[in-house]
Amino acid sequence: MIELLKDEYLDQVIEIEKESFEKPWSRKNFLSEIANHELSELYVDVIDGKVVSYGDLWYMFENCDLTKIAVRRDMRHKGYGRKMLSHLIATAARKGCEFMHLEVNVNNEDALKLYEGNGFETVRTRKRYYENGDDAYDMILALLVEQEHKIVLAIESSCDETACAILDDQLNVLSSVVTSQIDVHARFGGVIPEVASRMHVEQISVIVKQAVDEAGISMDEVDAIAYTIGPGLIGSLHVGATAAKSLAIFYDKPLIGVHHLKGHIFVNEMIKPLIYPMMALVVSGGHTELVYIENDQSFRIIGTTLDDAVGEAYDKVARLMNEAYPGGPVIDRLAKQGVEHYQLPTPKVDGYDFSFSGLKNAVAQLVKREEEAGNQINKYDLAYAFQEVALHSLIAKTKEALKEYPCRSVVLAGGVAANSRLRELMSQNFADMDLILPPLKYCTDNALMIACAAFHYLRANKFVSMDAPSKPSMSIED
Ligand code: KG4
Ligand code: ZN
Repeated sequence: MIELLKDEYLDQVIEIEKESFEKPWSRKNFLSEIANHELSELYVDVIDGKVVSYGDLWYMFENCDLTKIAVRRDMRHKGYGRKMLSHLIATAARKGCEFMHLEVNVNNEDALKLYEGNGFETVRTRKRYYENGDDAYDMILALLVEQEHKIVLAIESSCDETACAILDDQLNVLSSVVTSQIDVHARFGGVIPEVASRMHVEQISVIVKQAVDEAGISMDEVDAIAYTIGPGLIGSLHVGATAAKSLAIFYDKPLIGVHHLKGHIFVNEMIKPLIYPMMALVVSGGHTELVYIENDQSFRIIGTTLDDAVGEAYDKVARLMNEAYPGGPVIDRLAKQGVEHYQLPTPKVDGYDFSFSGLKNAVAQLVKREEEAGNQINKYDLAYAFQEVALHSLIAKTKEALKEYPCRSVVLAGGVAANSRLRELMSQNFADMDLILPPLKYCTDNALMIACAAFHYLRANKFVSMDAPSKPSMSIED
């Protein structure tokens, strides 16, 4: 986390200062920076108690001076310098500075590349500025000028879709390519993780190339590379992460690690702007969550499943009925022709949490009972019975939650959002609210959703370093 320098980090900062500069600042210099936050600010990036980088700004009327950025020696070339620079630029802009100025040794190629890449321009050369006779460039960045449209290239590979999309910050889709492995996994009745990673490896470079070709842009025009950092299957996540990091290193772009479910939520912006506070009902193969979203950076899980996710329950129930994987679309279709006939128990869980395994077991017992009695199961009616109970529990909890957490809008997100009956029930029950139902093409996994979410990370300067680990069970609150 990036924060202002405190006494407890001083020793580490002095250590980095010594290994970074020929004429390091003294402890006294740093102490005066801590004491004087009006005129200057020294920020440190601290990870697990370790200072990885720091950067210092001096404010002078409407301008500011970037006096230094340093990165701990063993953490260099991992994106921390860029991360700190982005933070300082955003901070200065927020404070209303018009220009940021810095001096840099003309021979310091890494630093020049970093500053030029962030829009700094050389305005003059200071001859023999340094003691060893080296020249310095004066560089300036205009902070208040209208920024050009940003472009993000995003990769999604958390489960069984390999996808790449290119999107600009006005939400113009430059390209969006998705390949699904569903046909292969269908043969096994579910996603086989090892098979999924192998297929991602085979597809990923083809998909990325296709997305870039279709967008008709060069990689120079891309401002950031985004990818799904979690949650998902670890092997599958790794493939996307490696591809994204390779692109970020090769083309020298900042890297954004997007939470998969935030992708499912923010893709709804393709329809209309989101209004906060907002309640998201996130329903997918791996998650069932009620998320209270106060603003685009604040996510709070107020309800979650205690056992199976709702999509998982659809898949398992379809399997019990000898239907194909993925079971969600099959049950959706069958239920349309079903009528009220079988009785299944409504899950009883306190608060806003969900449970679907009891319901799934009840289906299993019913199938067994009927088979033992020699009765033919009416699969339409069984699909209907399961779906009505499962979906009404989603609706009931969402309604309850909205009483305690009043919201201006409700948004449905995730693979199960494709369900026709759920969409109908949402429309009936939340007619008086600003309700957003994602179009079907955005319900299943794709990379556009990762790009949509990435802009919220970009605006908040939330980047990840090149050694960021994938997080298979990451929470949306992280
Ligand atoms: O979001 P998603 O594509 O992948 C995950 O992140 O999990 O969601 C996949 C899940 C599967 O369980 C699938 O059966 C379910 O979404 N699903 C549906 C429908 N279409 C997909 N469930 C119910 N009705 C549907 N029409
Ligand atoms: Zn998903």
